[in-house]
Amino acid sequence: MIDLKSLVRTIPDFPKPGIEFRDISTLLADGEGFAVAVTAMVELARPLNVDRIIAIDARGFLFGAPVAVALGAGIIPARKKGKLPGATLGVDYALEYGTDRLELHVGAVLPGHRALIIDDLIATGGTAMACVSLLREAGAEVAGAIFAIDLPDLGGANRMREAGVNVSSLMA
Ligand code: PRP
Ligand code: ADE
Ligand code: MG
Repeated sequence: MIDLKSLVRTIPDFPKPGIEFRDISTLLADGEGFAVAVTAMVELARPLNVDRIIAIDARGFLFGAPVAVALGAGIIPARKKGKLPGATLGVDYALEYGTDRLELHVGAVLPGHRALIIDDLIATGGTAMACVSLLREAGAEVAGAIFAIDLPDLGGANRMREAGVNVSSLMA
């Protein structure tokens, strides 16, 4: 059985001193490893019966797209500021090493949709919780959130669980 964790590199002091950056590019470059990771996400997602995958710009797109195809669900990109051409809902947030803004197209997510958030990694949970707040503002049901990597010492997954989100990950 393939050890997914061994395919993720840790690079110290990127993008700032003191940050231990988990680099998924080595996992993505391993065809078998990437397929195992996507398949594991699909198996976690299947029981949630979702109809929309919300993939977070940018690294979340890499996992969200194949999971959406496997489930037969639509994919909605949650994008960084200024990238979506139509009217948007947006929220500013803080993450482990900075601040940013996440946006969704107005009308892309509607009441009655069962949405699954997908990203490569959860650290403080700032990014994923920004996505939850946009989805709830749009009236969608947040059926869950799946990450390739959880950094539990940074508390993000617990923060999401306290907000009532079903969180899972492939490795810590
Ligand atoms: C990284 C990572 C997650 C987020 C997690 O994204 O891909 O989206 O940080 O951190 P948090 O839990 O503390 O919010 P980043 O915005 O650095 O960039 P990218 O995905 O566009 O590469
Ligand atoms: N996003 C937030 N913290 C991160 C980390 N330590 N490595 C990679 N991506 C991240
Ligand atoms: Mg990201």
